[in-house]
Amino acid sequence: MAFATRRFVRAASSASSSAAAAAATAAAKKLLVKHVTVIGGGLMGAGIAQVAAAAGHTVVLVDQTDEILKNSKKGIEESLKKVAKKKFADKPEAATQFIESTLKNLTVSTDPVAIVHSTDLVIEAIVENQEVKNDLFKRLDKFAPEHTIFASNTSSLQITQLANSTTRQDRFSGLHFFNPVPVMKLVEIVKTPMTSQKTFESLVDFTKALGKTAVSCKDTPGFIVNRLLVPYLMEAVRLYERGDASKEDIDIAMKLGAGYPMGPFELLDYVGLDTSKYIIDGWYMSEPDNPLFAPSPLLNKLVEEKKLGKKTGEGFYKYK
Ligand SMILES: NC(=O)c1ccc[n+]([C@@H]2O[C@H](COP(=O)([O-])OP(=O)(O)OC[C@H]3O[C@@H](n4cnc5c(N)ncnc54)[C@H](O)[C@@H]3O)[C@@H](O)[C@H]2O)c1
Repeated sequence: MAFATRRFVRAASSASSSAAAAAATAAAKKLLVKHVTVIGGGLMGAGIAQVAAAAGHTVVLVDQTDEILKNSKKGIEESLKKVAKKKFADKPEAATQFIESTLKNLTVSTDPVAIVHSTDLVIEAIVENQEVKNDLFKRLDKFAPEHTIFASNTSSLQITQLANSTTRQDRFSGLHFFNPVPVMKLVEIVKTPMTSQKTFESLVDFTKALGKTAVSCKDTPGFIVNRLLVPYLMEAVRLYERGDASKEDIDIAMKLGAGYPMGPFELLDYVGLDTSKYIIDGWYMSEPDNPLFAPSPLLNKLVEEKKLGKKTGEGFYKYK
């Protein structure tokens, strides 16, 4: 009996050491991302480039013109000042060093093909258009090294369709950041049926290195956050459209009754009414019988009148 127990213990310990060895090998196989290319220097791309550079990665930010990139860089510098002021409140020297070292990690380019050969991770954050994104990924796929992971920050397009424009479907994933990127802690990692475990785990590590929290989701409309948030926002608009409550009272109710930091109409104006309409229209086209995805006449009217929210000075509320 004692002998059998010893044998069992030996077997168990050798099983656990081989499991540990297997885990170590799997971990060793993960890609340690050092060099990052971010394509699209707009609202999201600039934010992603900033947080990646601040975390010590070498980052190249790509856009179509030098003028756009100049603006992106200016925005990043402004944002870094705010972050540094908060992070190093009583240490001005440390704040300056943080800004300088982050900017040292960051360069810009208008030619993604010329730089993609030395990158571990490409994060795409360009215009929300399937064809334009497909063209970009297809082109870069020819020039990027074998090990390079491609990721899209798309909010509403299918990751699988983007991955299919490349030959590296196993090294392709959604990497969905939130606006404003330096502030928002969440990243949704969107796995297609072809995304490998190694790609997924490498992206989890990358996300952690940026100080963000990763959640995982399948390639379904809206992933997690928007799938819950957009129907909620549309329900708020419908409540108002029916005349059941004023938009001001709905905003107050959700802030004070549900503890949300912004009311649904404030949030719609912040996100942009055109963006919300674009998302809901896409979902309605694919699932016209789902009442949660039904279009709103009021939202459509405001977009038609170019009242798109904060960015145009008027949406549900006026900002001038
Ligand atoms: N805005 C948000 O709140 C938000 C949140 C999460 C995800 N997203 C997604 O992020 C992506 C970008 O959104 P955004 O709000 O930053 O847009 P944006 O319009 O602010 O920026 C897009 C940038 O991409 C550039 N661009 C367009 N085509 C290009 C190309 N072929 N090559 C290089 N650069 C190109 C444009 O010049 C522009 O600077 C979209 O896919 C969007 O769905 C947006």
